[in-house]
Amino acid sequence: MYWEELFCMETAPMPGAVVIFGATGDLAARKLFPALQSLHDRKLLNEDSVIIACGRRHYDDETFRSMLGCSADFARHICYCCGDNDSDDTYLQLKNMLSDADRRAADKNLPVFNHLFYLALGAEDMLAVCRKLALHGLLKENPASGSWIHTVFEKPFGCDLASARCLNDQLHNCMDERQIYRIDHYLGKETVQNILMLRFANLIFEPLWRAEYIDHVEITATETLGVERRGNYYDRAGALRDMFQNHMLQLLCLCAMEVPSSFDADDVCNEKVKLLRAIRPFDLNSLSSEIVRGQYISYRQEKDVAADSLTETFVAAKLYIDNWRWRNVPFYLRSGKALAHKKSEIAITFKSIPHSIFPDIAPGDLAGNVLVINIYPGEGISLTLQAKKPGPKLCIGRMRLDFDYSTLGKNSGDDAYERLLLDALSGDPALFIRNDFIEESWKLLTPVLEQWQLDPSDLEFYPVGAEGPEAAAKLIAPNFWRSLEPDEN
Ligand code: BG6
Repeated sequence: MYWEELFCMETAPMPGAVVIFGATGDLAARKLFPALQSLHDRKLLNEDSVIIACGRRHYDDETFRSMLGCSADFARHICYCCGDNDSDDTYLQLKNMLSDADRRAADKNLPVFNHLFYLALGAEDMLAVCRKLALHGLLKENPASGSWIHTVFEKPFGCDLASARCLNDQLHNCMDERQIYRIDHYLGKETVQNILMLRFANLIFEPLWRAEYIDHVEITATETLGVERRGNYYDRAGALRDMFQNHMLQLLCLCAMEVPSSFDADDVCNEKVKLLRAIRPFDLNSLSSEIVRGQYISYRQEKDVAADSLTETFVAAKLYIDNWRWRNVPFYLRSGKALAHKKSEIAITFKSIPHSIFPDIAPGDLAGNVLVINIYPGEGISLTLQAKKPGPKLCIGRMRLDFDYSTLGKNSGDDAYERLLLDALSGDPALFIRNDFIEESWKLLTPVLEQWQLDPSDLEFYPVGAEGPEAAAKLIAPNFWRSLEPDEN
């Protein structure tokens, strides 16, 4: 595989304290500590960094470290802060630990020593923790020091427009928007990041990236797993809130937004928000011709799911973007659980040629080229082309140019959380979500949620392992969804 390094934008990790709330929880064990260990192994965690793990269970530093099962060299960065999230004593203890870390950094003459709070907590607890942090002065930056204090949040960022606005307002009472890092783990995925490079570091796509040449776009994120142990959260959320409001709309924006004036986080976000504002609102009078929902048949038997639940585990939508570039180009988005295959991709289908010079072949016989940005499985990019079959006869066929990320030596340990943590540690907000993105996305989806609640009659049940409910096939007609089979199309 040909690869020539041109430029590397990576910044050196800065020293600081990472405070993890919910350190004994699932997310911390599965994602955060492994990602931090991996950053440490790659020398991307600053040697002077301190990780403070906050949890309710009674551990001392040694027990907690050995429970994590991480390497001794990484473990020496970690200490444990035991206490309830709602008790002031916890924050006093934390304040002492942070002051000690700051003092050690000052003794070493480190130019800066930042504080990053990571709230790996349920939605109910996040705001309460923020308020306590603010109350104890732990979110107040000292501009003279040159160090920053940032806080990382996991979704959900509200459950509709009103709650998202209210959450944003309350967070802004505790800290500036600049200090808030909202995570969407899709933005840390390798190929998702590559969409911007593909579109804006190459000239060949931009002239074609518009209604004149593109027939339709499909964005897919399907899973084979059901709700597993998350019934409690999921049954209140559903696929529209869980996948569409965040991941699916982020993918849509990266794929369809205009060229930002720079790679600066705000410039990129401005373009995303402009794009969201240009999405045609759903027509509530003919909603099922624009967005459909399904529930997998055994969903109601899942743990912590209501026996008469009307929560959707699948959504497919047809969107139009009312601007010059995308006039009348349908964007089809689908996401669901308990489906035939796990697949995440963006597929851009170009129009067919306007006239065929080949005997007995009509222009429509030659399907439009398809550019696929594969996110899972097998990160990469592929382009289907029409080509001549080798040999004396004139036979035309389809072939595919494939670029597979793994051929560039992608480390199998790479993980979206690793990337996002590194950026958070470096104070780079580019891959995090701004409040106006959240509010615009809810503006689009809240009317649908309200309408669905009023009239649940369109909820369709689909078998586990299917490609989705039948309504999804009708939604995309006369086109067809691409197969979920790993290497099809
Ligand atoms: C999460 C959702 O944000 O994304 C989950 O809450 C979903 O329900 C997951 O399973 C999918 O992520 P990925 O990276 O496996 O596509």
